[in-house]
Amino acid sequence: MVPKMTKDFDQIKRVKGELILPGDKSISHRSVMFSSLAKGDSIVYNYLDSADVNSTMGCFRAMGCEIIKEKNILRIKGRGLGGLQKPSSNLDAGNSGTTARLISGVLCNQAFETIVIGDESLSKRPMKRVIDPLTQMGAKISATEKNTLPVTFTPSDNMKAITYELPVASAQIKSAVALSAIHLDEETVIIERLSSRNHTENMLGLKVESEGLINKIYVSKRNYPLAGEYFVPSDISSAAFFIVLGLVLPDSEIIIKNVSLNETRTGILQVLQKMGGDIQILREDIKAGEKYGDIIVRSSKLTNIKIDKEIIPNIIDEIPVLSVAGIFAEGNFRIENAEELRVKESDRIASLCTNFRRAGLTVDEFNDGFELSGSLTNDKVIFDSFTDHRIAMAFAVLSLIIKQGGTVEQFECVAISNPLFLDQLGTLIL
Ligand code: S3P
Repeated sequence: MVPKMTKDFDQIKRVKGELILPGDKSISHRSVMFSSLAKGDSIVYNYLDSADVNSTMGCFRAMGCEIIKEKNILRIKGRGLGGLQKPSSNLDAGNSGTTARLISGVLCNQAFETIVIGDESLSKRPMKRVIDPLTQMGAKISATEKNTLPVTFTPSDNMKAITYELPVASAQIKSAVALSAIHLDEETVIIERLSSRNHTENMLGLKVESEGLINKIYVSKRNYPLAGEYFVPSDISSAAFFIVLGLVLPDSEIIIKNVSLNETRTGILQVLQKMGGDIQILREDIKAGEKYGDIIVRSSKLTNIKIDKEIIPNIIDEIPVLSVAGIFAEGNFRIENAEELRVKESDRIASLCTNFRRAGLTVDEFNDGFELSGSLTNDKVIFDSFTDHRIAMAFAVLSLIIKQGGTVEQFECVAISNPLFLDQLGTLIL
């Protein structure tokens, strides 16, 4: 158990400097999973050493994979198709939805029974979204009455390929189906009507046919991962907190290096640029199918804009800090079509609305979003992270901008995605 931490933040005048952030969380999870599934030795460069990725590592270690940490690389000895071993106890996904959902696609294809458990927050999050398609594929899965963790996977002799249209734009569901499909000879077809992050497709080299916003993804045993070198660019979702600080604080300029520029993740840059944010790409490169590069961010005058439904899956993890930017932009900040926020590490709509009300704003809360108006209080505010890492960092950013500063309770949860957040912040404060 990480000890509870209440963190006070004083206002800072500006940010300046260069940041190299740790690896992307989504790509780190997948690098660990794919290397563990592949037969033989892999190296993962620049992985994210955070609680969530450690949960994925713990699960695969428990199934016999050797995973060794060396500075910022991982050396993984994967066990190959059919090579995973029965774990001696339950697999603990901790706080990580990505671990629990993606590993489900693997576990339903094993010849041994497994039970996946999680922490209090993860045990409330929906698993039906992966249980449904995997059951259609022939999986034997049982969960609680509410379709939450613990989830039990029993061996099945009847696994088969399916055609599956995603009911919600979710890379976790898409990837769970794909990870089951890599165990099967026949081709599974996954249809998504709104694009979600495509790291699984890129990293497994899946065939994708796109028509407008609709993607058809084809996957079978031919796509089973191979051992090799995995490169993880820096996490744009972690960068977003610093980007907002750089835009909102006066006289600021920050460069963020080697950050993921995958088009299914850069919605946050597009939205902030449309709001008037001075964000420029200085350099762009591509490695292992993933785009990355350096960006420069300068203080800007922001104006709120209409945020389209189509971009929501692309910015889903950045909405907390985007809404903080929205407070300092002209006009009211409004977000709709984001009901998925209700089933993240916390009910993010409720968490954000509660904290914004504490900050003195007028909050109109809807089922799928909220609108902010009014002005901030001059009083010192205590924000709650609701043990949700992205809420904690979003309200750290707000506290750093407002003149009276602010306090964030249960700040320790930042370790889920960025244990070094405070150190990185320290390097930007002059
Ligand atoms: C993730 C997908 C997203 C995102 C999560 C990571 C992934 O969840 O919110 O932080 O790595 O596939 P959904 O797919 O449920 O939207």
